[in-house]
Amino acid sequence: MAQRRKIGVIGAGNIGGELARLCASKELGDVVMLDIPAKESFAKGKALDLEQNSSVIGYDASITGTGSWADLAGADVVIVTAGIPRKPGQSRDDLVAVNLPIIRDVADNAKKHCPDAFVVVISNPLDAMVYEFQRRAGWNPNMVAGMAGVLDSARFQLFVARAAGVSIKDVRAMVLGGHGDDMVPILSQTTINGVPATQFIAKDALDAIVKRTRGGGGEIVNLMGTSAYYAPASSAVAMAEAYLSDQKRLLAAACWLTGQYGYKDIYMGVPCVIGGKGVEKIIELSLNDDEKAMLAKSAASVQGIVDVVNKSALGRPSSRGGAVSTEARRRVALVDHARYLARTPACSSTTLRRSGERSRASRRITFSSAYLRRSIVSKASSSLRSCGAWHARSTRSRSVHAGTSAARNLVSASSGESSPVEAAARA
Ligand code: LAC
Repeated sequence: MAQRRKIGVIGAGNIGGELARLCASKELGDVVMLDIPAKESFAKGKALDLEQNSSVIGYDASITGTGSWADLAGADVVIVTAGIPRKPGQSRDDLVAVNLPIIRDVADNAKKHCPDAFVVVISNPLDAMVYEFQRRAGWNPNMVAGMAGVLDSARFQLFVARAAGVSIKDVRAMVLGGHGDDMVPILSQTTINGVPATQFIAKDALDAIVKRTRGGGGEIVNLMGTSAYYAPASSAVAMAEAYLSDQKRLLAAACWLTGQYGYKDIYMGVPCVIGGKGVEKIIELSLNDDEKAMLAKSAASVQGIVDVVNKSALGRPSSRGGAVSTEARRRVALVDHARYLARTPACSSTTLRRSGERSRASRRITFSSAYLRRSIVSKASSSLRSCGAWHARSTRSRSVHAGTSAARNLVSASSGESSPVEAAARA
């Protein structure tokens, strides 16, 4: 007998709820919405509300909320929204320290409970999070992709449609590269049903559209105080549906690159075909020199964050071989990032410096880095204080300099440990 497909949604927040609603109303399958134990009853309540909605709208799908990964056993698709969304003034990259231990926990549990699922990651910073999910879980790279290209392309297409005065249905365009401020709208191939967009829109207006697209997520964060969720959820569902219905859709998504466009060993936004085998094919467009240069810049930004991820010791298994609690992992991540940041300028400044760009963006990102340092140092210090390992007055300081030196103190405070994982596991 045919069985309904099962879709796991990790995180019952704004995007999670919209994902569940869309998957159920399109009858893609039954939805299990998971959140941390402290938010289990919230997840259950949201699921119940959405299930009652099925009586009104008329869709056959069960929606359940849970705090237990065991309920995701056998899921066909898992969509990961877990993590902290952006607040005004934050870049996506600022979220790396907080969201890294979360994605690792998700990867470990997904591997244990639903290893055959097609996974769509939405958590930010997107390209680094999907990279880490795949690396941590050893997932088949074709079966895990990041949702960003569909969303960024959607934003770009909307602005093009409005400027050209045509239906959104007729705009064909794609945005590639990392899901960050230097993503790459491919103007050379942007058309209104085959007619070049440049025939409708003047160059300066197109430039403004590119700029608005790059800041498209931030524009909404600034207006709402939190991240967008309707268009992000629809974008992830388009990818999930392409897999579940073997649609072989050509979409932009963050895919594992093995030399395409000259890049390898990273996840980054490229056009791909998604069907019943996951990411079945990556399509290489012929880009002009400007687009190639922009893609190189975007790839360098992604690599900057991936370097942070790789340098974190969190991924190392405990030498004692025992299970390490999520809280212990979180502590290790924070200590580890403080150690990394004490040694080196934060990744985004490094990336910008590498690309030779100094500007307002650089100042803003430096500010973000300062925010990141302060938040890491203060979180790490409070974790360590709570396990009696550290007493640092300097973390109360609000200055970047003091924050950095607090990070150094933190590093030296923990430097006697043979393995930070063990130290945290003992705590
Ligand atoms: C955005 C988030 C989902 O761009 O990254 O809105």
